[in-house]
Amino acid sequence: KFLKDDGLTQECRDLTTSLPSEGGWIANHLFRYQGFWHHIRQLQGVLTCQSHFHAQDSDILLVTTPKSGTTWLKAITFALVNRFLYVDDPQQHPLLANNPHELVPFLELKLYVENQVPDLTTLTSPRLFSTHLPSVSLPTSVKDSACKLVYLCRNPKDTFVSFWHFTNKLRPAEMGKSSLEEAFDKFCRGVSLYGPFWDHVLGYWKASLEFPERVMFLKYEEMKKQPKVHVRRLAEFLGCPFSPEEEKKGLVDSILKLCSFNNLSNLEVNKNGKMSTGEEYKAFFRKGEVGDSINHLTNEMIKRLDEITEEKLHDSGLKL
Ligand code: A3P
Repeated sequence: KFLKDDGLTQECRDLTTSLPSEGGWIANHLFRYQGFWHHIRQLQGVLTCQSHFHAQDSDILLVTTPKSGTTWLKAITFALVNRFLYVDDPQQHPLLANNPHELVPFLELKLYVENQVPDLTTLTSPRLFSTHLPSVSLPTSVKDSACKLVYLCRNPKDTFVSFWHFTNKLRPAEMGKSSLEEAFDKFCRGVSLYGPFWDHVLGYWKASLEFPERVMFLKYEEMKKQPKVHVRRLAEFLGCPFSPEEEKKGLVDSILKLCSFNNLSNLEVNKNGKMSTGEEYKAFFRKGEVGDSINHLTNEMIKRLDEITEEKLHDSGLKL
């Protein structure tokens, strides 16, 4: 069943023969599985994770579409949940020496990649994981348990531009850069990693309305505007609100400073480190601003994305 050469099972290979497929943004093809697009290695991770991941009630799962601020959310949540451990010795904080993606691993992109089934029994509670999986593809144990999900979304224009820059950094040099127009067309048609973007966001938006005690819905733009408000909300949602003493000590500010774009992007580990899969950590830090898409998209592109967003979200109550 398990073919050692590329980490793909026969089941995954067979499945791809029946799935719709399109050229991807980097080198590989994308396949549409359960309504969302994945490259084959990622698809293997999805299948393995769906079969083997057992959520515990105390787990915390951070969920995003790519380029919505995952790295920031990971850093903030890690710092929040573990704040009792490093309060006396902030110089020893793991975020100073480790990229947030190492501290909060992706299920399908790291832990269950290449059909590996990790031993998670040694992790202390609450276990912190992340995923880009759409809600329809979550392992059943996530749906059946009482674990908490934090979803962070970002406006589609900035998400698209961030994704275009990111994938261009990851493309092999001989391929050159992908054109903005070509990538834009794919994004609008929903053909992007874990796309369609709008369906991904809507799945979790609806879940957050239906199960507010289990699914928290955050927006990158609102976090940038009022970070303290949302970090406090997040702490409450996760069952670890800031005490009056912690507030007095300025802990909310300390966490935000530690996790700020400027601080994280200037750390040695994030300037020069790499993921085990080869991606440089610095690719996850570009500008970290709201509205940069205006510097890249034409008026026509902006109009088209706004129209799609309006059409997809109009009766949902969600504004992006
Ligand atoms: P830009 O490309 O617009 O700069 P992800 O973490 O989901 O891959 O998203 C990456 C985006 O988040 C990038 O956006 C990146 O610069 C931004 N980002 C990374 N770290 C951040 C931080 N600490 N605060 C705010 N934004 C951050």
